Amino acid sequence: MSVSNSNADNKDLNLNNNIDKKVPRHLAIILDGNGRWAKKRGLPRLMGHRAGLRKLEEMVRLVKREGIRYFSVYAFSTENWNRPWTEVQGLMSLFRFYIKHKVKEVKAEGARIRFAGRKDKLPEDLLEMMRWAEDETKDENILDFILCINYGGRAEILDAINNLRHDDKFLNKDLNIDITEEDLRKYFYLPDVPDPDLIIRTSGELRISNFWLWEGAYSEFYFTDTYWPDFDYDALKAALDDYAGRERRYGGLKK
Ligand code: IPE
Ligand code: IPE
Ligand code: MG
Repeated sequence: MSVSNSNADNKDLNLNNNIDKKVPRHLAIILDGNGRWAKKRGLPRLMGHRAGLRKLEEMVRLVKREGIRYFSVYAFSTENWNRPWTEVQGLMSLFRFYIKHKVKEVKAEGARIRFAGRKDKLPEDLLEMMRWAEDETKDENILDFILCINYGGRAEILDAINNLRHDDKFLNKDLNIDITEEDLRKYFYLPDVPDPDLIIRTSGELRISNFWLWEGAYSEFYFTDTYWPDFDYDALKAALDDYAGRERRYGGLKK
């Protein structure tokens, strides 16, 4: 059965969804396996990263079509600086290329580009482009497309704590005021974004690697052996169908 979403913004978008189907509001993907994808083909790792970014363009369109409102992707972790310098530099250049050439396309889809992660260590010109991309797409409201670059869950929690210390509520006060979850959340990178409902990791690795540590407390997980550059519409559908059949209890009991 084909339906249109009741939300005016999303009208006619999720044509592929069944009316009763649960669609994640926030879908997060750990983009993994670019290196192995390239190796399998006898190509340099950077070609795998290039193929991975190209796949992302297609995925933004598909995710939007499924009626998902927030789409976040883990593209570079706070630990990825440990890779050979040439690979790190190559990735930074690919991010530059992607932002420079793809923002228009993403905007045409009605997507707002946002970034999550630490700003230190990233090259100044890339930061400049990131700010430009955010500004350029700030009025789009069909999909929030979140690129996690130099992101680490531990870093995010620490940054939040360190920034919260300057909040009027806590500044110059005794340290015996209890900090609440709401207090801390206000200082996360994207406080208005709902927690991920579904986190997909490609390439057969079964770990979180420092992604959405706080926000993912009650996320559903889906793992696939497919390398990220091979992840396609069928793979996305399989993950979404699996999610639709899950029962989320948040520590409560079966309804
Ligand atoms: C994921 O692919 C992309 C980044 C972490 C930047 P990998 O580069 O981790 O690919 P594999 O895991 O080596 O195959
Ligand atoms: C996780 O992938 C980080 C990103 C996808 C950006 P990695 O390939 O870096 O993770 P590990 O090292 O296998 O845990
Ligand atoms: Mg990897």
